[in-house]
This record gives sequence, structure tokens and C-alpha cells, in this order.
Amino acid sequence: MVSKNRIILLAAATLMIASACQHSAPTADAPASAAPAEPLGFEPIDYFSMSCARCHGDYGANYGDEFGVGLSEAELRKFVDDMASGPGAAPLEGRELDAQVAFHRSMIRKQPFLDWTALNGDAIEGEVMEGSTVHVEIGGKSYPAKVDDARWSFTYPAGVDAASSLSKTVIVAQRKGAETRLPLASQAFSHQDPIQ
Ligand code: HEC
Repeated sequence: MVSKNRIILLAAATLMIASACQHSAPTADAPASAAPAEPLGFEPIDYFSMSCARCHGDYGANYGDEFGVGLSEAELRKFVDDMASGPGAAPLEGRELDAQVAFHRSMIRKQPFLDWTALNGDAIEGEVMEGSTVHVEIGGKSYPAKVDDARWSFTYPAGVDAASSLSKTVIVAQRKGAETRLPLASQAFSHQDPIQ
């Protein structure tokens, strides 16, 4: 009797484990969701101007051309984290720290940083490295965006619904021969790949 019960229990446990494994299968290959990324509720370029620029120059000008040479991803992240809670006096964590590190990667790679911070009705806006030109691609069609210092903004044309077009919208910034593309389907800020 005991062993029969055990077998039943074992069988049930095996089934439970099997179905749990199915549910926790990696999602990397899952089809991309139709929902776009969430706008970034933080402005890394503005933050840098407020908390870091007095020592490192406007848009990091004082980092110099050699910035990043010999600097690892871990060291960069630690610098940004320590500086934010130290001399910057404005501690960062989570997605805000991620976005500030990303802004630094863009300076190291000498590519224009881009983020998307808001959707207001038919208009979207965000930040871009100063001195950039920005255009918006919607399903392959290209439209110019407005740029004001380190901010870009764009109003969807009449007949194009903003909310349902976000996931096929790509923001493109160009500066000094370098280009950055930000697909709103998956990203609210650029330069998410580690430097090394
Ligand atoms: C009071 C001046 C001051 C402020 C404000 C400041 N820093 Fe720094 N930062 C320094 C100094 C000095 C160094 C070099 C010292 C060292 O190597 O430890 C440095 C080094 C760095 C480096 C490494 C630079 C390199 O060439 O490798 C990074 C990245 C950095 N800071 C980021 C920031 C960020 C982000 C902020 C704003 C949150 C910030 N700093 C605010 C003074 C400052």
C-alpha cells in the first residue's frame, strides 16, 4: 500500500516539475510583444547637466577624446554610481543608473545618445546629445523631428495614430558622421550594450 501511494505521489510530483519547467522556459525566442517600451521617466542628459557638468563640462566635454580608453564596463558603472552618490549628491539606482551609464557609453563610443521620455496625445519627446539632427521613421517612412538643444520632439502626422504606431517607430539621431537608432518597440534609451 505504502509503495503504491509513493508511486502516485512521485508521478504527481514529476508532472508538477515538468509543467513548472515548461512555464519557466527561456523567453528569448518568444515573439516580440506588440506593446512598445515604456517611456523613460528620467532624463539622463538633464541629470548630467545638473549634477556632473560643473566638473566634467557641458555634455561631458572635459572627459576628453581619450575617455573610455582602458576603462572596463564594471569600472565605468562604479564611477557613475560612486560619483552620483558622492560629488553629484544625487544617488542613482535601477533604470536611472542604467540610463546614466548608457549616456556615458555613448560618449565613449562617440555616438549620439537618444532617449524617449514622454508620450502626450499625438506627440512624443525625449533627449538627444546636443548638436544632433533627428528624424523619425514610421514603418519605413521618414519625417523630420524638432531639436532644441538636447531635446527632440515629434508630432505624429494627421491620420497616423500615435499609440498604435509606437511599436513601429524608430528615432534616428545623426551627429558628426555617427548615427544612433532607437526602436521604441523595445527601447526607451540607446547604448544598452556593455562597452567590453
Ligand atoms: C566635484 C567635481 C565632480 C563632480 C560633481 C562629479 N565628478 Fe566625476 N570625477 C571627478 C574627478 C576629480 C574624477 C577623477 C578622479 C578619479 O579618477 O577618481 C572623476 C572621474 C569620473 C569618471 C571617470 C572618468 C575617466 O576619465 O575615466 C566618471 C565616469 C565620472 N567621474 C562620472 C561622474 C558623474 C556621472 C557625475 C555626476 C553624477 C560626476 N562624475 C560628478 C570630479 C567630479
